[in-house]
Amino acid sequence: NVDDILSTIHDQFTLDSSTLFKITKAFLREVSDGLSNYGHAMAMIPTFVKGVPNGSETGTFLALDLGGTNLRVCEVTLHGDKTFSLRQQKFRVSETLKTGEVTTLFDYLADSVDAFLTESGSPTTAVPPSLTPNPSRDMVNPLEEEEDSPAVPLGLTFSFPVEQMALDSGILLTWTKGFSAKNAIGKDIVKLLQNAFDRKHMHVNCVALVNDTVGALLSRAYTSGGCILGAIFGTGTNGAYVESVANIKKFGDSNPAVALGGDMIVNTEWGGFNNSRTALPTTPYDNKLDRESINPRYQAFEKFISGMYLGEIARNVILSLIDAAPRPVLFGGRASDALNKQWGLDTAVLSEIEEAWVGLGRFAPLPGKEDEDEGTRLERVRGVVVQRLGFADSDVSIKDAEIVRKVCSLVADRAAWMSGCAIAAVLVQTGRAHLAEEGASENAAKLRDDGQRIGVGVDGSLVEFYPNFETKMRESLRILVGPEVESRVNIGMAKDGSGVGAALCALVAIKQQHSLQ
Ligand code: BG6
Ligand code: GLC
Repeated sequence: NVDDILSTIHDQFTLDSSTLFKITKAFLREVSDGLSNYGHAMAMIPTFVKGVPNGSETGTFLALDLGGTNLRVCEVTLHGDKTFSLRQQKFRVSETLKTGEVTTLFDYLADSVDAFLTESGSPTTAVPPSLTPNPSRDMVNPLEEEEDSPAVPLGLTFSFPVEQMALDSGILLTWTKGFSAKNAIGKDIVKLLQNAFDRKHMHVNCVALVNDTVGALLSRAYTSGGCILGAIFGTGTNGAYVESVANIKKFGDSNPAVALGGDMIVNTEWGGFNNSRTALPTTPYDNKLDRESINPRYQAFEKFISGMYLGEIARNVILSLIDAAPRPVLFGGRASDALNKQWGLDTAVLSEIEEAWVGLGRFAPLPGKEDEDEGTRLERVRGVVVQRLGFADSDVSIKDAEIVRKVCSLVADRAAWMSGCAIAAVLVQTGRAHLAEEGASENAAKLRDDGQRIGVGVDGSLVEFYPNFETKMRESLRILVGPEVESRVNIGMAKDGSGVGAALCALVAIKQQHSLQ
């Protein structure tokens, strides 16, 4: 019967606390494996970024950002007082570019930078400049001593797994998020971009390569002071955090980074956590998505969490309810064109359905809507279902709307709860929390940053737009690390993080180049 079918789906998607602890412990084991050896799917990539900014950094830089919803070219000016200004232009990356020859993709990146510079005037407007010396700052702009620079320095935010050899070089380990451009794996991404600039005789010099998570961490540190973790919950998901170099065992003893000691930002690539799926409770709907994806058995964690996939999981559930035997549970057994097409249901639609239910707007009911009766809210949801799933008005009942809304919540809540596991694991790994299951109170005195605010910078369409994503993420975090630590975790948007982060990295890179000369 219908209730049994729905309650089975409910149980499949609901994570109890023992599952949350199991996921988090497995996560910590993969953190340790990735820090000890190269070649793990959760790659734990050392970024060669040794410190975080304090907000006093200044200068103007170009940034290029590939890997989120849009390709963006930005000119970022850091004002040195924790604020920045940014001009940007967005470009679309077609499916053909994502899956064609890599040189065509990078030519397009170079063309986009060219178009931006042409529109914004002379390239030299993007070169540093007006710098106020400030001996107390951690990162200084070396170009203040430079007479004139031959090329515009550019920081590249490249949001894919890249094993870095230095701040300005790194090879692509694998594509994620639907990209599969040919002849890219194993290539140095900075060289690919620089070659494209050079082919076009552009006076632009790619000086730094940064992941979007590192960008989020750096930019949140720049604008708000301390930050230990940058995380993206958007098309993909991933996190970068500040680790002690001594814990990065895979460096071995001979790596110069080891002699320097201190901290280094590590890009976890947590989207690749638990590809064996031994800890992640996988439903048939997840298996179908994985099997039909372009990277089956990879990016397991990401496929439960990120915006690229949630719509597709929900579509699979909805189709199973349409096809249910002996009687259909949804839409009288009819599907729409959108529902029949792989990737036909965008995660943005799930978000709209939940917004319609909450009655807004974004994260809470609008004033006056708190007391709305369920019927009014469901009628609004029904409107979105008709429009966005492509049904005739008469095909969708209020009951259909109610079930679809519940499916969206189940899929998104599970994503948010799993995201909380990743944050909890980073807090435990860095000594800021104990797993609550293991007697948090008795060990509490030994915690690092005891009583302090713990800064986390986040970005991405899911955390920015999906109603209540952060609230849900905090629910599992609270279970895992206890309410005291959870309440000190300060999660803030790192808006434009990739642009600002790339600019900050370009600053460090130039400083390092100059100190070597
Ligand atoms: C953006 C960053 O703000 O957030 C991107 O500039 C990043 O680099 C993105 O990948 C993540 O969000 P989404 O939703 O665009 O994938
Ligand atoms: C994917 C990429 C990763 C990126 C994340 C968020 O997981 O592999 O590098 O940070 O998406 O954009």
